[in-house]
Amino acid sequence: MNVISFNMYNGVFPKILKEILIRSQSTATAAAATTAAATTAGAQPVAEKRVKKFSVYRWDPEKQGDKPRMQEYDVDLNACGPMVLDALIKIKNEMDPTLTFRRSCREGICGSCAMNIGGVNTLACISKIDTNLGKTSKIYPLPHMYVIKDLVPDMNYFYEQYRGIEPWLQRNDGLKPGDKQYLQSVEDRKKLDGLYECILCACCSTSCPSYWWNGDKYLGPAVLMQAYRWIIDSRDENTEGRLNKLRDPFSVYKCHTIMNCTKTCPKGLNPGKAIAEVKKLLSGIAKKEKPKIETLGSK
Ligand code: SF4
Ligand code: SF4
Ligand code: FES
Repeated sequence: MNVISFNMYNGVFPKILKEILIRSQSTATAAAATTAAATTAGAQPVAEKRVKKFSVYRWDPEKQGDKPRMQEYDVDLNACGPMVLDALIKIKNEMDPTLTFRRSCREGICGSCAMNIGGVNTLACISKIDTNLGKTSKIYPLPHMYVIKDLVPDMNYFYEQYRGIEPWLQRNDGLKPGDKQYLQSVEDRKKLDGLYECILCACCSTSCPSYWWNGDKYLGPAVLMQAYRWIIDSRDENTEGRLNKLRDPFSVYKCHTIMNCTKTCPKGLNPGKAIAEVKKLLSGIAKKEKPKIETLGSK
């Protein structure tokens, strides 16, 4: 049937078919040309490398005779995230797995990536890489701390000092935790703003000259700010006991209000001011206010 029909239209069909074939061929050619043109227009030129030098403090106590030194690494910023921690992770993953540093949250919350970058104590995860390729980025561990390895400082003594200020709620009512709720007015709660946000990264304490020289007896800005956070808490009843523990020539009074601490805090807090408030309470210039509401809840 098809053959017959085809034959019936013999002379007409081949013409139509030829026409269709020519048209589809030219359409295909045009489409191919268009695609090629689009590809050429949209093609990304191969990006040039943007190589940045990082000079990193290295020391491995497990290698016999190893001495502290600076090691340089070239990082292509086009293949790296924007933060200094990204560069360190890239170096560790792709160039040198022996490089050692602390990190966890990578968003300025845990405090573990505190180090000295370009001469400033800060958090590597929220420090943008200086994109001036002509300038080497220098990275050291937090200053004046014992080093465990590379960029990892020994934080044990710092945490001991923190433990020493007993950073928990203390009451005189003899109740066990959970027996009753403790209440706080909005106004009293506001007094903790700017204090409770501290992530104990130690950037401030390790930028403080007094802490460098007297860190064994001077508590340093981070710990003192937390001491103040508990002293000023309207629910806490051990105010005198807490202040009495600080009444010596070193714990607080080695702060000479140089304010490096406040300048360097990567969370924008003001430990220098908190220390000044502690001094006012110690000297009697200021008194802790009475709570605005009864702090003992019914349950
Ligand atoms: S006050 Fe700032 S710099 Fe100091 S420990 Fe707290 S967050 Fe870190
Ligand atoms: S204000 Fe006090 S704690 Fe802060 S850097 Fe100066 S001496 Fe250190
Ligand atoms: S990794 Fe947690 S603060 Fe930087």
